[in-house]
Amino acid sequence: MHPVRSALLAASENRWMRANATRLPVFRRAVRRFMPGEHLDDALAAAEGLSRQQRIAAIFTRLGENVTEMTAADAAAEHYLAAYDAIAQRRLDAQISVKLTQLGLDVGPSRCRDHVGRLAARAAAAGAMLWIDMEQHPYVDGTLALYHAVLDEHRNVGVCLQAYLYRTAADLQAIVDAGGAVRLVKGAYKEPATVAYPKKVDVDASYLALARTMIGPDARARGFRAVFGTHDVTIIDAIQQHAKATGVARDAYEFALLYGIQRSVQQQLARDGYRLRVLISYGEYWFPWYMRRLAERPANVWFVARTMLAK
Ligand code: FDA
Repeated sequence: MHPVRSALLAASENRWMRANATRLPVFRRAVRRFMPGEHLDDALAAAEGLSRQQRIAAIFTRLGENVTEMTAADAAAEHYLAAYDAIAQRRLDAQISVKLTQLGLDVGPSRCRDHVGRLAARAAAAGAMLWIDMEQHPYVDGTLALYHAVLDEHRNVGVCLQAYLYRTAADLQAIVDAGGAVRLVKGAYKEPATVAYPKKVDVDASYLALARTMIGPDARARGFRAVFGTHDVTIIDAIQQHAKATGVARDAYEFALLYGIQRSVQQQLARDGYRLRVLISYGEYWFPWYMRRLAERPANVWFVARTMLAK
């Protein structure tokens, strides 16, 4: 792994930095590129702008992970329930994506499961989907067990899978068999070579092989929903070409990109008639998430440095 990437991912897990760095003006200015604001209203306003100007739909996520008290998990669930109401009131084409450790997976797995069930029901009432993020590899078993349990009752729930993990092909097949929904990403965490491909070239190859399964005849026959969460234009193009060559319609799958990243690619996808969502993050707990965004592209560190020097 590139040393800068490694250092940024280590910083993302540093307790002191997590607690204090968000107060530093330099980080506060720089993070605006990826986050329209810290409040739900900021995210809603950004989504309305994207929808009005470019007909791009949204996914919201309130930053936060690894809560250590159930009260914090309960508060996160209440917040998201209210967020679905706000989506319905504003008639927005928007979904929500949650981290299970934000909903209490570490401190009360069964209450976490209840929260996900309540959120899925509220999402259905708002005509929306609920997405479950994927976190570090020790959480994968628990996340997928909970996902399958919830999917039995609520068909409007999807889960993120990470192409860098060796296990993902098997996890994907189980979700295809269940007719579920997957958002495929490369993977954002610092993982050991015992569980994840260390080389980008292997992660990219894994991503494409999984993508082909996701839009393959078996998946489509079972009503599986395929979402590709990537900014990698080579991969986006390869998926489009494969879909075209195998007779898969443009509206049979969806792309999802992060707010503020590859904006021209986002606009092009929307113009070309592909289904597209932009994931908009908000909240005060943005430091670890922001470090992961910097790690994805070390050139972003120069962006922070320039912001430091700018008035
Ligand atoms: P890659 O990192 O190879 O980037 C391809 C190109 O995109 C780069 O060359 C650059 O031009 C541009 N780019 C990518 N990231 C950038 C950045 N931060 N700033 C500027 N340019 C950038 N991960 C996870 O582990 N669990 C999860 O639940 C999710 N959820 C999720 C949802 C959605 C909608 C997206 C788009 C991503 C995630 N991720 C995630 C993050 C994902 O795992 C991955 O870290 C990033 O998407 C970066 O990988 P790419 O596929 O974009 O390719």
